[in-house]
Amino acid sequence: MDVCVVGTGYVGLVQAACLADLGHCVIGIDHDPEKIRILESGGIPIYEPGLEAIVRRNKKRKHLRFSGQLRDGVERAKIIFICVNTPPLDTGETDLTYVANVSRGIAKYMNGYRLIVSKSTVPVETGRWIEKTVKRFYRGKQPFDVASNPEFLREGSAVHDFFHPERIVLGVDSKRAERLLRELYAKIKTRFVVTDIESAELIKHASNSFLATKISFINSLARVCDSVGADVLQVAEGMGLDSRIGPKFLQSGIGFGGFCFPKDLAAFIHIGEKANVDLKILRAARAINDEQVFYFLDLIRQRLKVLRRKNIAVLGLTFKPNTDDLRYAPSLKLIHALIDRGTRVSVYDPVAMNKARPLLPDQVRFAENTYDAVRNADAMVVCTEWPKIVRTDFGKVKRLMRKPIIFDGRNALPGKLLTDMGFIYTGVGVRGWRENRKNGLLFY
Ligand SMILES: NC(=O)c1ccc[n+]([C@@H]2O[C@H](COP(=O)([O-])OP(=O)(O)OC[C@H]3O[C@@H](n4cnc5c(N)ncnc54)[C@H](O)[C@@H]3O)[C@@H](O)[C@H]2O)c1
Repeated sequence: MDVCVVGTGYVGLVQAACLADLGHCVIGIDHDPEKIRILESGGIPIYEPGLEAIVRRNKKRKHLRFSGQLRDGVERAKIIFICVNTPPLDTGETDLTYVANVSRGIAKYMNGYRLIVSKSTVPVETGRWIEKTVKRFYRGKQPFDVASNPEFLREGSAVHDFFHPERIVLGVDSKRAERLLRELYAKIKTRFVVTDIESAELIKHASNSFLATKISFINSLARVCDSVGADVLQVAEGMGLDSRIGPKFLQSGIGFGGFCFPKDLAAFIHIGEKANVDLKILRAARAINDEQVFYFLDLIRQRLKVLRRKNIAVLGLTFKPNTDDLRYAPSLKLIHALIDRGTRVSVYDPVAMNKARPLLPDQVRFAENTYDAVRNADAMVVCTEWPKIVRTDFGKVKRLMRKPIIFDGRNALPGKLLTDMGFIYTGVGVRGWRENRKNGLLFY
């Protein structure tokens, strides 16, 4: 099937490359000439494990190509995916400018039946709005459909998530649209949730808001644990074994970031307001997350007493491991706060150093690796649980540091081992060390 994917970012590039891998003929469109240049020259503009090989393979067998011109895609493809960014406005409301531009462009170049599918995360009723926008600018007579097919991939395992999704949600209002989308994804074995466009749009916002709330819940609980001397890892373990709760998204730390949770939460709060529903629970989840970095900063301050002129090594900058995405990464907020308090900060991230440079103050030192970062440090702070960072040679780290103090913003390090090695270890809501785990159960 001929498919056009508009926007070749974290979502669009995965969608384009993996659909091509399923055997479809795909063209990826992006208005950023630099992205198109990189894609045409055989590279990819983002870090996503496994993706580059799929792009290469499918370009070689001529299933995948890229262009900066929307016309090249719209004139041929039967299905057009909108995968452009939907950033937040200052009010939290979704900025639909990019979606509007693409919708107008599609209307201009359509020359036959087209199925226009929104994969971008958009507020409920955007599908209808896309339909109206296309109708307003379309001069032809051919029918078209609009559908919603929200994306649930996780950066860092996006390729796996494309081929093994837990569900595919199709928001459609015609049999033709449903048939085309089922045909497109026929090779993927999963459960299809077929619904109306509005419900599909809501499923996406509701899912992300729920997960963000779960994280804020456990982060609040971590603060209680710190206060009463309990251990949030054990509390989470005990809770998560209840199948009604489940263990996922019960990891406390410095809070969530990334392009999705913060903005989707804000957007959903706004959607509630428009629908005259005060989504108090989501406002609380957002407020807790906004505070969480400062809660962590306070743990650091309490231990170090003075932050001014202290050398702190911040390890891991991305909002989670296995991605180069720094959007809304809590590490950035923490580093700015440390610099504001006169701390000398050195940083290291396995993949995001170049992307981080323009986002951090000039005073920050960009280290070569973990060991270079911790040299003469008064404390080491982990913001992202990259395997490379978690599996550091801590004996070497200890020899290099001025003081053996570790703050674990992801509760990902072996706290007990580090304590036994003579480190002063602080996690978030953790009793200073972490138990050995065997078969998913705790052993003391
Ligand atoms: N990143 C994720 O993990 C994730 C997961 C699920 C859903 N989403 C949603 O998917 C959407 C895209 O997210 P992303 O992370 O891929 O964003 P992104 O910023 O990485 O990519 C968006 C791309 O669209 C391009 N673009 C914007 N306007 C364009 C236009 N008029 N013509 C052609 N190209 C245009 C940009 O140049 C950019 O390359 C957002 O709505 C996001 O909320 C993201």
